[in-house]
Formats: sequence, C-alpha cells, structure tokens
Amino acid sequence: MSLYRLARPLLFSLDEENAHQLALYAAGVAGLFSAPVPRSPVRAMGIEFPNPIGLAAGLDKDAAHIDALAALGFGFVEVGTVTPRAQPGNARPRLFRLPERDAIINRFGFNNVGVDAFIANVRRARWNGVLGINIGKNADTPPERAIDDYELCLKQVYPHASYVTINVSSPNTQGLRTLQEAHHLEALVKRLTALREPLAERYGRRVPLVVKVAPDLNTDEIGAIADAVRRYGIEGVIATNTSLSREGVEGLRHAGEAGGLSGAPIREMATRVLREFAFALKGETTLIGAGGVMSGADAQEKFAAGAQLVQLYTGLIYRGPDLVSECASAFRGK
Ligand SMILES: Cc1cc2nc3c(=O)[nH]c(=O)nc-3n(C[C@H](O)[C@H](O)[C@H](O)COP(=O)(O)O)c2cc1C
Repeated sequence: MSLYRLARPLLFSLDEENAHQLALYAAGVAGLFSAPVPRSPVRAMGIEFPNPIGLAAGLDKDAAHIDALAALGFGFVEVGTVTPRAQPGNARPRLFRLPERDAIINRFGFNNVGVDAFIANVRRARWNGVLGINIGKNADTPPERAIDDYELCLKQVYPHASYVTINVSSPNTQGLRTLQEAHHLEALVKRLTALREPLAERYGRRVPLVVKVAPDLNTDEIGAIADAVRRYGIEGVIATNTSLSREGVEGLRHAGEAGGLSGAPIREMATRVLREFAFALKGETTLIGAGGVMSGADAQEKFAAGAQLVQLYTGLIYRGPDLVSECASAFRGK
C-alpha cells in the first residue's frame, strides 16, 4: 500500500480546501516515497521534456511549491493562474469533492498573490526543469481591458517561463470564456504574439505560447480557435480546462454547486475536444491533453487522440503521486 493510500482517509476527513493545502505541503515528503518516474524524453515546442507528464495549472496558483511538486517526478510543472494584481477569489466553500465519481467541482476564481509576488516565488525555487506559467485577468478588470491584463502578465513572466499559457477557459471569472470566441481570441493572440517579438529580442529567447481551452466547445468553435492558433503561430493548445456540464454526476451531493467540473466525468469530452484539435491542426501545433486522467490507460487515450504531452490535476488528488510514474510508463509502453 502506498503512503498516499494511508494518508488519503486523513486528508479527505478534513475540510476540502484545507486538505488541499495540506496535500501541497506534504508533496515534498511524498516525493521521497513515490514510485520513481522512468525517463521518457519528448521534444515539443523546442523544449526537451524529461517525460511527457505534467502538473496542470491551479494546484500551485502562487508558484509557492515548485520544488515540492517537481519532486513528484513531473516532466513539467505549470503554475498559476496568475493575474496582474493580488485577489482573494470567491468566498469559501469553493472546492467540492464528488468521491463517488472521482470528480471535483471548484469555483476558486483565480485567488492568487498577484504577478509581482508570484515572480518572487518563482525566483526562490531551486528546480530548473520545464516550468509553464499560466496567465489570466483580474475579476474586476472590465472586459474591454482584458487584453491589457494578459499583456502585463506576459511581460512580467516572460523571462521566467519555459512556456506561457493563455488561460481563456476558466469558468469562474465572469466573461473569461468569451475570450475563446473567434474575434476576441484573434484580438488577444494578435496582441500577445506581437508583444512576444520585442520580448524575444530583449531576452534572446522565444518563449512558446499555449492557449488553454474548455471541454464545452462545439466543432465550429474548435475550428475557429484552430484557425487563430495557426494564423498567429501559437505553439500549443491545452485541451482541456474544467467543464460547465454536470453529465455523469447528476444527483450526487455537491453536483449542483456552481463551478468547473474536473476528473473522471470529463475525460471523454476532453478527449473529444483534443481529438478535434488534432484533426484541425494536423500535427502543426503541440497538443497537451488534460481532463480526467486517472490511470495510465487514460493517459494513453490522450496520446492516441493526438497529445504529445499530458497534464494531471484531479487524478493526483484521488490516486496520489504514483499516478505520475504510471502515466509516464504508459507512454513508454505505447
Ligand atoms: C481545484 C482546481 C483549481 C484549478 N485552477 C485552475 C487555474 O487556476 N487555471 C487553470 O488554467 N486551470 C485550473 N484548473 C483546471 C486544471 O488545470 C485542469 O485543466 C482540469 O482540472 C482538468 O484536468 P483534471 O480532470 O485532471 O483535473 C483547476 C482545477 C481544479 C480541480
């Protein structure tokens, strides 16, 4: 029995958000006991990844636990979402476990320390592996100023990131998902890719840009996003974020809570969106599969659908850190 299986009942008996925090602090210790992760290098977006399994955004919103999380053997770690100014997020409770279905509903709403304190945390980390930084907008920034928030964050995080994720798919910031709509997304990626040119010049390094999308997109919406991604030379797409749907959790305690659903119930819809992006982008863009990966077989499903890389979040909460090596082994065996 793994150490995590022993600790899980204790963690799950605590208030959900406190258990989440405690699990973060315990990650460093857990790294000493979790299964070693096989080396299985992948090259994508001009970056060498030691293995293709990454931590998805949102567990380390403030970049305060990079070393502990990296010790779990991830091939890459994504931190954030960070916004220009610090903000408290939504009122508690805002995190709900649905253990009958290995699922979570959250409506954190980008609680974070703001980009300056975030960067101070990144600087303190000793790990020098592949670090993704996920950026968003403040809740009180009006929609017509949203792009300014992304620009400000991109400028600040640029020299510290292996890649930068443009998050336009979290359901808990009003209007954020509107930025996925064709003309809004066009305007956003146009300004951010233009801003990248002087940044690349200044720092002597072209940092890849990645767009993170929702699992609730239809085929037309996917086509329009793929067009913008191709036209402006965005290097990657993360498919997907959490879902507004409640399919597969109907009638369960907490299923009626507002927020984004993650974990096992969203696996199929996230894989469908991933597959459609693979079809639309035909190998030109790096695809990162996320959503409901709870086992090596689930990771393999994402690779088979066209992902070069896979990210985990909810699976880590339910299965513990051994899931990282299980997924990396599934990739080696594919
Ligand atoms: C509690 C929680 C907080 C999250 N916060 C963020 C976030 O700040 N930014 C983001 O891009 N995604 C966030 N996500 C989404 C995850 O990164 C991931 O895309 C999604 O949960 C699907 O993967 P999973 O089913 O493995 O959890 C969050 C997910 C959860 C469960």
